[in-house]
Parts: sequence; structure tokens; C-alpha cells
Amino acid sequence: MVIKDYYSLAEAAKKLGKSKETLRRWDRNEKLVAAREPISNYRIYKKSEIDSLIGLFDDDIEETMNNFEKPLKQYKVLELFAGAGGLAIGLEKAGIQCVALNEIDKWACQTLRENRPNWNVLEGDIKSFNFEKYKGEVDVVTGGFPCQAFSYAGKKLGLEDARGTLFYEFARVINEVKPPICIGENVKGLLSHEKGKTLEGMISILDEIGYNVIPHKVLKAINYNVPQKRERLILVGVRKDIDINYEYPKPYNKIYNLIDALKKGDLYDSDVPKSEGSKYPQYKKEVLDLVPPKGYWRDLPLDIQKEYMGKSFYLGGGKTGMARRIGWDEPSLTLTCSPAQKQTERCHPDETRPFSVREYARIQTFPDQWKFMGSVSQQYKQIGNAVPCNLGLEIGYSIVKFLNNYHRRHQENLASISLDKESIVSSNTFVPSTSRATSPTASISSK
Ligand SMILES: C[S@@+](CC[C@H](N)C(=O)[O-])C[C@H]1O[C@@H](n2cnc3c(N)ncnc32)[C@H](O)[C@@H]1O
Repeated sequence: MVIKDYYSLAEAAKKLGKSKETLRRWDRNEKLVAAREPISNYRIYKKSEIDSLIGLFDDDIEETMNNFEKPLKQYKVLELFAGAGGLAIGLEKAGIQCVALNEIDKWACQTLRENRPNWNVLEGDIKSFNFEKYKGEVDVVTGGFPCQAFSYAGKKLGLEDARGTLFYEFARVINEVKPPICIGENVKGLLSHEKGKTLEGMISILDEIGYNVIPHKVLKAINYNVPQKRERLILVGVRKDIDINYEYPKPYNKIYNLIDALKKGDLYDSDVPKSEGSKYPQYKKEVLDLVPPKGYWRDLPLDIQKEYMGKSFYLGGGKTGMARRIGWDEPSLTLTCSPAQKQTERCHPDETRPFSVREYARIQTFPDQWKFMGSVSQQYKQIGNAVPCNLGLEIGYSIVKFLNNYHRRHQENLASISLDKESIVSSNTFVPSTSRATSPTASISSK
């Protein structure tokens, strides 16, 4: 095999005007079979064959749907509970400018400042900031507020009843800033928190401060180009004076696996960079050494299962996250804030160790250039807390789409007002001024 006679996957895709994913699929279903580069095993295509096919697939419609939406103007976001910037990176990539980010954790703030020295990072407890100066300056307020219970007195919850909680702070800021749209993000568990009453209370508070809440939705990160089975509850409020639909980003069919996160491919142009990472204690390592890729505690010999699981062994339930080794050809399970903790082990497929910091970041779809500040455990915490950047990007597109429609509506209204003005000016020639004074249109347009 003479490599110079072959195109890479990307080159072949470009020549044929198709996506790399389409070519992979065609290879899988034998529509266009690729050869393999002997060392890396990457797909390659004989140049002569590809050149003879150019133009032949032009009528094939790409099946890949795309949520991309180009902003019609520079939209701005105020991001609360910003953490290390997972959501903010996604929003920025969608074309939304971060005008300010609030975060209490000093290491997360350092991460934000290190990577984006131009971002306005407001470090400290959200309670100590007033955001009124952003009124009219911001198109969207976003925030992954930590979930806390409210105390109910058996009535519909109002803003003041929630005082003391972080959701109160989230709602207070929205009330101060009054953006056209606001987006809250949380764990799926919020749905069942206090038998659904916590979420119900949040919706009634947003209603009270002037926002219609779109029926909430749990978005699965695996449907949005994230190689991880993470789920986030999204809560969207649209200011009540705005009669424009918000649509959640549509899910993609393509599912990415661990291999796509850690090796060169569609998601990243290179293998994952080396980095620091935590280790398992010796006993845990010895146990996990016995678990195959995609396996978990049930793959251990019975006596070790009992010893390792302790009481949990007898409690029933699958506990499929315990003593788990992830396989290359599956998405990772949800990453937590600390990678070696019991109950949620996600062991590397080939080596008996937790994922390193940069591997963690890749599974959350952070760019390799994004540095995390603080100790290794602080870095894991920031990454584990984040909204995966690619999910943030798709949420960003959905916000841009909404704001574009809002912007268009605004332009149309302005145009119709100026048309009204024109018709009044032209009607001046015919109508005596005394009769115009009583016309409502005349009184608006004369302002
Ligand atoms: C779920 S994380 C947010 C993750 C972030 N959206 C991202 O994508 O990376 C919640 C964040 O809220 C921050 N936080 C908690 N209490 C806070 C407070 N009182 N004021 C400001 N930030 C707070 C935490 O430090 C944490 O970083």
C-alpha cells in the first residue's frame, strides 16, 4: 500500500462534498468501503476511486440535521453560577457574548479569567451583587442554580417565599435584568425533588415575575455530540410580553463513544493530551483489575462482589455504576465531581485508573486549550460540575434562533410604524389638520 495514493477520511469527504460521518456510515453499510491505514487503522480511500466518484453523489441528500443558527446581531448573556465555563463556552461558540459571569468558587473564577481575560468575572456570593445595571443590556440570563428545597405553606409559591435559596437569587436577577428569555439548568433529580413541588414552585415564581415557562425538558447529552450519558433538566422562561415560540434543540442521531473523546476523530483532531489524574487506592485497583471493559461489579467473583459491595450487595437494584469500567465503544457514564469515589467508578478501558483531568475534560467536550486552575481535585470538581460544552452550544443555537425571531419581529414592528408614519405624512396633503388631531394613529406617530 502506497499511502500517497490514498485520501484521508476528511479529504475524501471534502472531495465528495459529504460529511465524515456520512462516509463512515457508507463504509459500515458497504456503500463506499474504506481501506485501513495499517498502523493507525484509520479509514483511507484510494484517490483514483474517489476522483472517479466526484459528482456522482450530488443528488444524495445529507441526512444530517443541524441546529446551527447564525445570529442576526450580537446577542449578550449574563451567566450565573458559571463554574469553570462549560455552558459559557458553548454559548460563546454559538455566537452569544458573555457580558458578565458570576461564580462563588475562587478556583473556578481563576479558570474563567485564565482562559478568557476579557470576560467580566464577578467573583463572590450571588447574594452580594446587584444586577440592575444590566437591565436592557442582556438578551438572556442563564444559570445552573444548585437545587434546594422551599418551605411551603400550602399555597402557590411566590418570589418572597423562596428567599434564602439560590433559586430565589436566580429569579431575583432575572427580575432585575428582565431579559427576553432566561434559561435555568439543573440535574434531572429536580423533577422528583420533594415529589415535584420544588419544580412547581420555581415555575410559579417565574410566572409571578413575568415569565411564561415553556414545558420543561430533560436533554440527553449523548444526543448533542457529547460522548457521555449525562442528562440535564432545562427550564426556559420567555418574558410575557413576547409572543414567540422557543424550541428545544433537536437531538442528533449520531452517538459518540469514549473512543471519539480520547482518540483522534470527528470530535478532536488529535489523541487526548497527557495530564495529571488521580489514582485508585491499592485495594480498589486490585478489584477493578478483574473487571473487563463495559463490565461492572457483577463481573467479579462472588466472594469479591460481597466483600467489595458490603451492605449494598444485599440491597438489590442494578447499581450498574459501581466498579464500572467504561468500554471504548460506548459513551461514558455521567462524570461526577470526584473520579475515584465509591459507587461511581468510571475506570479507563485499558488501564486500571480513573480518567485523567484532560480525559475528563474531553468527555465533557471542553477544548484541549481550556486550562483548569487549582489542585487536581479542584480541577475534577470544576469539570464534573459543568454543562458539557457541546450541549451548551446546541442550547446556544436554540437561544439564537429564538432571539433572531424576536429581532425580526421587532424590525417588522418598526417597519410598520414607519409605514404608518409615511401614510400619515402623505395623508397630510389631503386631510385637513383639524380632523387628523382626533385620529389615534396620528397621535402615536407624532410622538
Ligand atoms: C452546576 S455548577 C455550574 C456549572 C456551569 N454552568 C458550567 O457549565 O460549568 C454550579 C455552580 O454554582 C456555584 N455556586 C454555588 N453557590 C453559589 C453562590 N451562592 N453564588 C455564586 N455561585 C454559586 C458553584 O460554585 C458551582 O460552580
